[in-house]
Amino acid sequence: MNKQLVIAIDGPAGAGKSTTAKEIALRLGYKYIDTGAMYRAVTLLALESGISMDSEEELTKLAEEAEINFAPLRPERNTVYLNGRDVTDEIRSTSVNENVSLVAKIAGVRKALVKKQREMAQSGGVVMDGRDIGTVVLPQADLKIFLTASLETRARRRMNELQRRGENVELEEIKKNLRIRDYMDSAREIAPLRKAEDAIEIDTTGMTVEDVVNKIINLTKEVKNE
Ligand code: CDP
Ligand code: CDP
Repeated sequence: MNKQLVIAIDGPAGAGKSTTAKEIALRLGYKYIDTGAMYRAVTLLALESGISMDSEEELTKLAEEAEINFAPLRPERNTVYLNGRDVTDEIRSTSVNENVSLVAKIAGVRKALVKKQREMAQSGGVVMDGRDIGTVVLPQADLKIFLTASLETRARRRMNELQRRGENVELEEIKKNLRIRDYMDSAREIAPLRKAEDAIEIDTTGMTVEDVVNKIINLTKEVKNE
């Protein structure tokens, strides 16, 4: 039987997690769950409601009550719905970028979103990416990947991506945001960004998306043959 795997992909911002995870899910016919989009959606809701980023109780309530869904994956788009509204583009705004790590360090927010993430992965045949998937959300995953790349590479990738969308942001500005988020995500008390002991690390500096995807697809074949 063709076993439906659970694949966890973690790593810092701009390492190529979502691009790679999406492509792997498309090739294998799996679901793709972008957990960063879920933290971003709660952050957007908080900004829109004028809730302060240190109001733990209110943010936890938002996370618990938010309905976050992903439309079936298409090559060009992974549509994210927040309470029935398409927020795919809005969750990538600068204000969300600047506040998301503050929201993501709150215990109640993490608890609420991890619960939703585990439910989404229950049926198997899933690729999930984030910061704590291999360590906390899905410690029993069949395959765990930890993607990295140099800060310079990650910032350049992000800048190219923004340029493709018609936005011009200085490389230094992007580097600053990545550096701050890397620090906050790695230094936080709960579920910090960390490679799981049994994760396979891939440094994607100098690798194309195709290279990385092929490497991971080969690893899934090895796992299935075990
Ligand atoms: O796409 P990018 O790598 O810039 O970020 P993302 O994956 O969309 O995640 C946005 C933020 O959400 C991260 O910087 C973390 O603060 C938080 N996050 C998290 O804490 N845990 C996860 N599993 C996923 C994201
Ligand atoms: O999800 P994460 O923040 O880890 O990264 P991403 O959003 O998947 O990738 C950021 C950008 O880098 C995208 O525009 C990708 O096309 C690009 N990328 C790349 O050029 N080479 C790779 N090996 C992986 C991603």
